[in-house]
Amino acid sequence: MLELDLTAELDRQLSVCNACRYCEGFCAVFGAAQLRTAIGSGDVAYLANLCHDCRMCYDACMFTPPHEFAINIPAAMTEARVQTYERYGTPPVLARMIRAPRRGALVAVLAGVTIVALAVTFSAGAAALWTPQLGPGAFYRVLPYAAMVVSALALALFGLVCIALGARRYARDIGAGERFATPAALRTALRDALSLRYLKGGGAGCYDQSRGSGRRRFFHALVFWGVLADFAATTSAAVLQEFLHALPPYPYWSVPVVLGTGGGVAIVVGAAGLIAVKVRSDPRPASTRMIALDYAFLGLLELVASTGLALLALRSTSVMGALLVLHLGAVAGLFATAPYGKFVHAVYRVVALVKNAHEQAGP
Ligand code: HEM
Ligand code: SF4
Ligand code: SF4
Repeated sequence: MLELDLTAELDRQLSVCNACRYCEGFCAVFGAAQLRTAIGSGDVAYLANLCHDCRMCYDACMFTPPHEFAINIPAAMTEARVQTYERYGTPPVLARMIRAPRRGALVAVLAGVTIVALAVTFSAGAAALWTPQLGPGAFYRVLPYAAMVVSALALALFGLVCIALGARRYARDIGAGERFATPAALRTALRDALSLRYLKGGGAGCYDQSRGSGRRRFFHALVFWGVLADFAATTSAAVLQEFLHALPPYPYWSVPVVLGTGGGVAIVVGAAGLIAVKVRSDPRPASTRMIALDYAFLGLLELVASTGLALLALRSTSVMGALLVLHLGAVAGLFATAPYGKFVHAVYRVVALVKNAHEQAGP
């Protein structure tokens, strides 16, 4: 079992909470903490990913600094979450990227753009970067279909395997030998995750700018469903091409373009909203390491979505080739850094919610 540095500190803080119990209705963390007389490292990894960082407990607490108890649950939980991402990151040598997320994202995108630009130059010639391409198969005259599919599938498969291996170790540690993924627990966890139930801060909303609001939950929903819509757009384009033999670019009212445009706009607006909330929120209940991870991930999402929308708008002009290189390079950067950045929160959070649903259901 991995030792998390914050174990002693969270054990101290949560023992005060277990005596106080003022916040027990706010979220799942306090109910789960009450089931534990002492906090071990598996418990820290579990509780940290159960905390949704709504900051309600910080705002409500009478023992925050300068009080001598120095209770700051959101800051400690957020720092512990960053440690979870690094400790369970697979392979460990790449997981070090979590320490410098903005540099990692920049290097990954620059490397992606360079590799795609070189592939275009070797396969179609440098002129493909500024020569307009029209009609079915226009994109593939810039970069061959096989090169796009093979590299995207290889990166996605590598990322999925690494994330799954990390999540398996995480589930083992927080489960302490118990199997908690029952069908009932999975159902409850999925409902809690999709509704972001614990980002409601006990009903008042998430505490940003020292008052509750539903802004973060709303913008997160835009980003989440936007990513899913873009995934559905890519899948539907593959179906059109493989089964109906229709090559892109597709008409503006086709399924892939409608889903892709809707998803792209949702990500651009949602990520911008999350950035705006973050810029203005109180830094005291936060972790600077998590803020860096958030900005790196939000920046990558903005870059991928905005270059995708620009490619759609300008696909029949002479900048299509250059935009395609930029978009594919950004997508490669997003995929390559996904197992070593903020993206993994989705997986650890869902696993923590499954465990919580199982333990709250009782024996
Ligand atoms: C496609 C999948 C997802 C994407 C792209 C995504 C994106 C993001 C981004 C960019 C942030 C940082 C914004 C901020 O701190 O305000 C964030 C935060 C958050 N996400 Fe997600 N998310 C995804 C899935 C999920 C899932 C499944 C959950 C389930 C509970 C979740 C829960 C949260 C919570 C609670 C926060 C705020 C606390 C934190 O920063 O960890 N997300 N998400
Ligand atoms: S965060 Fe503060 S108010 Fe809330 S339960 Fe803990 S000690 Fe009590
Ligand atoms: S910040 Fe919100 S989710 Fe996290 S422990 Fe406090 S009340 Fe619960």
